[in-house]
Order: sequence, then C-alpha cells, then structure tokens
Amino acid sequence: PRCFAVVPCAGIGERAGVGGPKQYHPVAGKAVVAHTLAALGAVSRLDATLVVLSPQDTQFEQHAPGFEGERGWVVRVGGASRAESVANGLDELLARGAQPHDWVLVHDAARCLLRPEWVERLILACEEDEVGGLLALPVADTLKAALPGGDGEARVAATVDRAAKWAAQTPQMFRLGLLRPALVGALSDPDLAARITDEASAIEALGHQPRLVPGDFENFKLTWPGDFALAARLLATVPL
Ligand code: CTP
Ligand code: MG
Repeated sequence: PRCFAVVPCAGIGERAGVGGPKQYHPVAGKAVVAHTLAALGAVSRLDATLVVLSPQDTQFEQHAPGFEGERGWVVRVGGASRAESVANGLDELLARGAQPHDWVLVHDAARCLLRPEWVERLILACEEDEVGGLLALPVADTLKAALPGGDGEARVAATVDRAAKWAAQTPQMFRLGLLRPALVGALSDPDLAARITDEASAIEALGHQPRLVPGDFENFKLTWPGDFALAARLLATVPL
C-alpha cells in the first residue's frame, strides 16, 4: 500500500486571534503551514501530500509557492468542520487514484513543529496494524472537570482520574477504505458529528481501537495567541 498525507488547512483560527487564518501567520521566518509541509516533505515513506484549503483561500500559493507538483496536491474543498474538510480531501485522494487499502496520515496544518522522525515512528508502528493509530502523549497534569457554564469564572466539579489518559496529536494514520466511511458516517449523525474532533474518534465510533503511538511534547497544535512565540523559540533551536 501507498502512504498519503492529508493536511486540513481550511480553518479560520478563531482562538488564535492573529487577524487571519493562523496557518498563514509567520513563525521563525515563514508561514505556519510552510513549516508543516517542509516536515512532511522530508518523510520519504509518503507518496504524496494533499492540502485541503477553504474555497475562499487567497493566501496558500503566496506562503507555499511551488508546493504543487509530483508529490503535492492542493484542493479547495474545505468544509464547515475539520472532519468535513478531511472527508472531502479523502474524496479527492480517491479521484487521484488512491486505493482503499492505502494509508492516509491526517496532519493538522497548525502542528508546524512536526519532525519527520515522529511521522516515521507512527508509520513503523502502524503499517502492520489491523486498524491504524495516532501520535499521542500520556497526560501529565491533573485533570479537572469544570462546572457547566463558567467560562470566565470556572470552578471545579471533580477531579478526573488521569491514569491511562492520553492527549491525541496528529498525524493519525488509517486505511483510506476505513477512514472515509467512518467520517462520512459520523458526519451524517449530528450528535456524533459534534463529538468527533479527530479521525480516531470516528474510527472508535465503529468499534475499533486505534493504536496509541508516543508523540512528542513539542508536537502541539498552535491554538492560542501565545503559542506562536513558543513555536518560534522551539523552531529557532531545530535546524530542519
Ligand atoms: N481545519 C480545517 N477545516 C475546518 C476547521 C479546521 O481544515 N473547517 C483545520 C485547521 O486549518 C487546522 C486543523 O484543522 O490546521 C486543526 O483545527 P483547529 O486548530 O481547530 O484550527 P481552526 O479551526 O482554524 O481554529 P479555531 O478552532 O480556533 O477557529
Ligand atoms: Mg477549530
């Protein structure tokens, strides 16, 4: 089977508050997504990378010039949710000749600290697996559930047992022929659609148990305003 990367890059970045889609905000000299694509481009096991943009996107070409080519496709089929963007991207992969038994590695454009060796670790751990898996990290902090309704002034309702809890990262690696129906099925059920915030959750909804592969603390998703300065500091120390 071949291995394809799919990069959802169609969000608006509301929480980041950088005045535009965060994937195009500069970090250490280039746009967030340019770092992400450079890391994926260094993974020799990947046959091609498909980037999913919003139909209204006006910035990708300027920030990732020359990306399209033999190993890069850009499609403007982003949807209202991340899951929709990914599902639409999978249709585009099929249209380009990908087969159901091929692997798809979905990776957030906003996780720009990705290193090729982490992707290789995931592929090695999952390529013989029945289901597939994801990069993730055991939770280190004590977990609190908050009382409902208190966004600015939250209070603790309970402490949640953190044993055997992992925080999910990306890439998440599944067979195209399993992931596409999993996402399409989940999206057709409004309850489920609101709860699938990654690929694995859609796969789990079908009763499967994705493999948890140790990721890295630095593989965080740029989400909040302060994340950009942290990412810049980390990138300054990594000669890619
Ligand atoms: N994404 C996407 N299509 C959407 C929503 C998100 O392709 N409809 C992508 C984002 O561009 C990002 C990744 O999915 O690379 C992870 O999503 P998230 O961090 O939530 O990004 P945003 O949705 O852009 O940010 P926010 O939720 O703060 O608005
Ligand atoms: Mg979002």
